[in-house]
Amino acid sequence: MELRLAGKKALVTGGTRGIGRAIVLTLARAGADVVTCYRQEGEAAEQLARELKELGDNHHVIKADVGVPGDVTRLAEECRTRFGTLDIVVNNAGSISHIPFAELTAEEWQRVIDTNLTGAAFVVGGTLPLLGEGASIINVGSRVATVGVPLRAHYTAAKAGLIGLTRSLAKELGSRGIRVNVVAPGPVETEIDIPAPVRERYRNLIALGRLGVSQEIANVVLFLASDLASFVSGETIHVDGGI
Ligand SMILES: NC(=O)c1ccc[n+]([C@@H]2O[C@H](COP(=O)([O-])OP(=O)(O)OC[C@H]3O[C@@H](n4cnc5c(N)ncnc54)[C@H](OP(=O)(O)O)[C@@H]3O)[C@@H](O)[C@H]2O)c1
Repeated sequence: MELRLAGKKALVTGGTRGIGRAIVLTLARAGADVVTCYRQEGEAAEQLARELKELGDNHHVIKADVGVPGDVTRLAEECRTRFGTLDIVVNNAGSISHIPFAELTAEEWQRVIDTNLTGAAFVVGGTLPLLGEGASIINVGSRVATVGVPLRAHYTAAKAGLIGLTRSLAKELGSRGIRVNVVAPGPVETEIDIPAPVRERYRNLIALGRLGVSQEIANVVLFLASDLASFVSGETIHVDGGI
């Protein structure tokens, strides 16, 4: 049993920036072949493709929006044609907005639910035929899902939904040897600027006195993806510095 993922095939959604990028590079460095997806063309996707090229010849960066069912079908088909099977699926793609509940439109509610929850469910559905004994599904949730936070009712509802999805899928797929877990990050430093007062508030709330970094989330995903976590399923692991 080891942390290395040599010969494993992985799909990571939303891998061109932030936590997803760290997950993609961590899995690739551990020896997995990785397919990842993004929405917006640009430097982030090109830069990731360049870095992956240096790590191996069988990594693929594909444009696909997990909130669009046709894109999810195409993404699963890309995994099938390029890899044949999958060992690891990481539902990382997520989207957030900060809106008072009284002003939340049906469109914005739907967009956030589609990306964070429905997208994850459809990605699992689309890739299920590729997953065999020993496969690991990891859904990236959020610490706030079970805590609540003002202005993010739609986001926390979606992320809390991921926990229910994970618990049920763990029970339904366990007999096939497939594990399903949530990694729930607390506040993490990414490219997105965090205003100084918000940063200070987080520092005061977090036992370790600092925000996390993307690599610290990717490390836990790596553990869950590996055979070291062979008896871990249906679990939500909070990675929040003790908030
Ligand atoms: N950062 C935090 O403090 C924090 C805390 C708790 C939980 N999380 C969760 O961790 C995950 C990653 O967050 P992050 O902060 O790293 O996000 P981020 O910096 O905004 O990056 C999101 C990544 O996902 C892609 N993406 C977004 N929507 C997508 C879609 N519909 N289809 C395909 N790809 C999509 C983005 O690609 P494009 O640029 O092409 O759109 C980008 O590569 C999310 O699920 C988030 O909810 C983050």
